[in-house]
Amino acid sequence: MPWDLSQHGLNGEASNPLALYGSSETHTWLDKFAALSGLGIGSIRRISTDGKGRMQPSALRAAIESDLQAGVRPCMVVGTAGTVSTGAIDPLRDIQTVCRAFNVWFHVDGAYGAPAAALPDAPDELRGLAEADSLAVDPHKWLYAPIEAGCVLVRNPANLQAAFSHHPPYYRFDGDAKDPPLNYYEWGPQNSRGFRALKVWVGIRYAGRAGIQQMIADDIALARSLYSHVEAHPELEALTASPSITTFRYVPSDLNVERRSPEVGEYLDVLNEKLLAQLQSGVDLYLSNAIVEGRFALRACIVNFRTTERDVQAVPGVVVRAGRAIDEQIRPPAIASSSSTSARA
Ligand SMILES: Cc1ncc(COP(=O)(O)O)c(C=O)c1O
Repeated sequence: MPWDLSQHGLNGEASNPLALYGSSETHTWLDKFAALSGLGIGSIRRISTDGKGRMQPSALRAAIESDLQAGVRPCMVVGTAGTVSTGAIDPLRDIQTVCRAFNVWFHVDGAYGAPAAALPDAPDELRGLAEADSLAVDPHKWLYAPIEAGCVLVRNPANLQAAFSHHPPYYRFDGDAKDPPLNYYEWGPQNSRGFRALKVWVGIRYAGRAGIQQMIADDIALARSLYSHVEAHPELEALTASPSITTFRYVPSDLNVERRSPEVGEYLDVLNEKLLAQLQSGVDLYLSNAIVEGRFALRACIVNFRTTERDVQAVPGVVVRAGRAIDEQIRPPAIASSSSTSARA
């Protein structure tokens, strides 16, 4: 058998390998991390989620217990504050309780959602990110910085120094003992590094904390407004809204029924996939996609301070016009109202 390094990592056949825990919704950076770090993708446990895409802490606990019994060493749990597909927020406080119980590092992926925790009315579950040992934030997402400016915050700076600080004879950066310099090469993997933080700092200085809070609050309000517009349209199905991601899909009126046959379900996925491709190649709006409870959905993620209520109001019309045209072109004869079981009142 060839040794699959990315799958089994440097642990190989070790009897006490390390394990990582994320959910089925954790972004795929975790796979890259597992392969790059040498732990191997096989070290990841994808913990199940509830109907809203949130990690189930009881399943996490059970997975850790079962690993411990098998001699595996739990190493890190990743909770997500705003999943990439639907913006779901894991129950961070409950996950942290599990991490504490087993002395496992708790990392929170707040790449997208973390800045929303600064809002005065932020949901308590989002504020749970304060419990993390480390937190990833992407200022190029919801802090409005130009791409790219990834950032990780670590609760205890001594952990960074323990991992990254080296004092070879050719580095003489100690400076004045009374006013020692902050040598960033001791705080992260890079030695030579650019000043990415400058653009983040300038943005924060320009808008101020209150300005950024306002822009984030506006984005959230727009995503909710989009959800209401979609909900009100008889040919659209509203799926999720959290915190500034709204998912929905186009459903022709004659297929908009309580219980759909599997064939209709499959057709709606195909229809929405084609619809998304067409919308993306057009100039009116740009949506991405999500899979919501097995269904192909259109996804609007509002993180641009230039988006307005007028833009959001225009979305249903554009989507439905394109949806109708594609439905007319591609609907197979077998898929008609008769394939559905009971019409909605
Ligand atoms: C929750 C989450 N984590 C991680 C990432 C990856 O971010 P980047 O592309 O900046 O590496 C994304 C990107 O959408 C994300 O939404």
